[in-house]
Amino acid sequence: MQPDHVRIFDTTLRDGEQSPGATMTSSEKLEVAKTLSRLGVDIIEAGFAAASPDDLRAVKTIAEAVGVTGVEGRPSSEPPTICSLARAHQPDIEKAAEAIVPAKHGRIHTFLATSPIHREHKLRMSRDQVLAKISEMVAFARSFCDDIEFSPEDAGRTEMDFLYEALQAAIEAGASTLNIPDTVGYTIPEEFGGRIAMLRENVPGIEKAVISVHCHNDLGLAVANSLSAVQHGARQVEVAINGIGERAGNASLEEVVMALRVRRDLYGIETRVDTTQLTRASRLVSKVTGMVVQPNKAIVGANAFAHEAGIHQDGMLKHEETYEIMRPETVGAGKTLLVLGKHSGRHAFANRLVELGYPVSGDGLDKAFARFKKLADKKKIITDADLLALVSDELYQPKEFWRLDAIQVGCGTGMPTATVKLTGPDGVTQTAAEVGTGPVDAVYKAIQSLVHVPATLLEYTVQSVTEGIDALGEVSVRVAPDEHGDAEPDKINPQYEHSRARVFHGHGAHTDVIVASAKAYLAAINRILAIREAKQPESKAAGSAA
Ligand code: KIV
Ligand code: ZN
Repeated sequence: MQPDHVRIFDTTLRDGEQSPGATMTSSEKLEVAKTLSRLGVDIIEAGFAAASPDDLRAVKTIAEAVGVTGVEGRPSSEPPTICSLARAHQPDIEKAAEAIVPAKHGRIHTFLATSPIHREHKLRMSRDQVLAKISEMVAFARSFCDDIEFSPEDAGRTEMDFLYEALQAAIEAGASTLNIPDTVGYTIPEEFGGRIAMLRENVPGIEKAVISVHCHNDLGLAVANSLSAVQHGARQVEVAINGIGERAGNASLEEVVMALRVRRDLYGIETRVDTTQLTRASRLVSKVTGMVVQPNKAIVGANAFAHEAGIHQDGMLKHEETYEIMRPETVGAGKTLLVLGKHSGRHAFANRLVELGYPVSGDGLDKAFARFKKLADKKKIITDADLLALVSDELYQPKEFWRLDAIQVGCGTGMPTATVKLTGPDGVTQTAAEVGTGPVDAVYKAIQSLVHVPATLLEYTVQSVTEGIDALGEVSVRVAPDEHGDAEPDKINPQYEHSRARVFHGHGAHTDVIVASAKAYLAAINRILAIREAKQPESKAAGSAA
């Protein structure tokens, strides 16, 4: 039976995590999975279990924590299905099966490329060999689990007659979801929707399966293609929060969900997502992946509900629907006005965080409140933007192997120097001083002389959280560890089957941008160490860095 709603299959933790620099620690992945569960997504693709032991553990942890009962605040009484990706190889499928065991509803998603270019150059397999492999591997996956999804990779460029055969083979071997990926973002909406219609007409037994789509955004058409597929009968859409994913990314969850909601008159079918959680989910994913959301991004961008032009403002004052097709509250982007000041108490502070979608309590609340009080001493008016920067700086950071205790810089036209005092993983506090081309360079050199995690700084950005001379500065960095060890020889990119050089991000916020810069850099170093520790739980990750 076909579902009465469009299933949302979220791949932020799998395809999204494949974006360069979007590497998340296990605890961040868990936090994202909880948010996705609260959002009400139907299926969470929690990772690619065979990529590394750490990836397998992360999928399993999510299956245990989110896949048994869901989480508090989930709009459905059923937990989400927890899915692991697997290439069409027995060992991959075995790892995926192992990882999803704890989940009440588990799914194995296996894939094999079907397009001529992939068959000839990547797989070096004939059509018949591809068909045989699909039958064999889908049946093998089915021996572990009833819920099997099959994807003919690069379906967007696969000959239709061969796609019919490939999907028929998958159905006969036991697949219940057939996902049609536009892997390289090549198709256009009419064409892609047309392909879905042709599949429904020509694949024997397809009515027994749910048709899913997975569109990449290389031509900026991922959302449009996904929606066109829904109009032609797709009942599952694969998406990622903020549209992150390989290259130009995947279809954005928030855009697909809101298009189906706002234009239900046209589509006649919706999702089960609690749209009021969208903004919160977007912010969290942006923080933990370091992938900044552009201000004009639909639904969740900072300007998505801002009206600047006089004519628009005038219209809005007369009637909101003159220039707004949805209310900001519908997507959880309430009015963001001045909120707190020096005399605000802990209760008001905690309440405002809840309103912003961060229900912080206990130790986390203590820490965030202490930071808020310090900031309120320096800055008269604290806005929501300040609060968000502060909370993410305090709470959404990797494990602190190295902690910044103090920093002093001297700069100007002479020789910029920096002295930093850090406490290391062994609890010992050390101090170092260095000269650099500028104060930030001097700080980063001084940090490196203590932490010994050689890394190249790829990107450094600083932005002011609000206007004014007393504004918080937020620094984001991306770094690539220099030695080969972090190219992750044991982590396979499922689609390209080669290890990827990894990029790690870090962010820091402070009224002093040099302090924010030091915090951001240390956060990236701590992230490298956290990932290393996860890969080698027995060894001392921080020790091996020295
Ligand atoms: O883009 C793609 O083809 C994929 C598959 C693994 C579904 O991500
Ligand atoms: Zn993909």
